Amino acid sequence: MAFFLLLVMLTGCAASPQDLSGKMFTFPEETKTAHVRLTTPTQDFSAVTVCLRSITDLSRKYSLFSLASPTASNAFLIYKNSESNVIDLYAGDKMAQFGAQDYKLNMWHFICATWDSASGLVQLWLDGKPSIKKFVGGPNITRPIVILGQEQDSHGGGFDIKDSFVGMMSDVHMWDYILSPCEIQRYVDDLNFTPGNVLNWRALEFQTTGRVLIENKEMTCQGV
Ligand SMILES: *[C@@H]1O[C@H](CO)[C@@H](O)[C@H](O)[C@H]1NC(C)=O
Repeated sequence: MAFFLLLVMLTGCAASPQDLSGKMFTFPEETKTAHVRLTTPTQDFSAVTVCLRSITDLSRKYSLFSLASPTASNAFLIYKNSESNVIDLYAGDKMAQFGAQDYKLNMWHFICATWDSASGLVQLWLDGKPSIKKFVGGPNITRPIVILGQEQDSHGGGFDIKDSFVGMMSDVHMWDYILSPCEIQRYVDDLNFTPGNVLNWRALEFQTTGRVLIENKEMTCQGV
């Protein structure tokens, strides 16, 4: 009974929102298990904006943000293609490729992606620069499971080590509407932007599995 209560408390702690300002998730090794599962308060979306910062030295393909619904494992997916300058966006299991992106290894990048079911258009913003818009369509998203560090091939699972992310990630936000270009610019400049109303880095509900660390974002000496 005592053990059960402890378990409930531990799970309760893991699920209560945490302010991760100034922090990052470190994914230090290539596995098919280590990941972060994010909890969304809302269960129904007709539009999505996701923004995050990440750094890696992977030259293969990998998932940056995997959102699966019961009917579509790639309900909303930001996926780095194995071609160095290509990023793929999926909605409702349909994919659009964005080429000629200035995506460098060992550099922090800001990535935002938008989609709405009314137009079916997706758009990518890399370091504050917008791509063209492309059509993928896609139905509304229901019962999402959001995973960082792995790519879902089923609702909450189906991970493949070849899609895993190794590196650091921070400032993950998700909105259930499309951000305006000015709001995206405020996010990139870390000015007074409206935090995600679905996922908010400053009040994030999440559970980590495997070797994923929460560390301070400062990676170099800032001078005295
Ligand atoms: C998707 O969601 C929007 C807004 O909630 C709603 O107006 C629309 O009817 C929904 N579409 C479908 C196909 O359910």
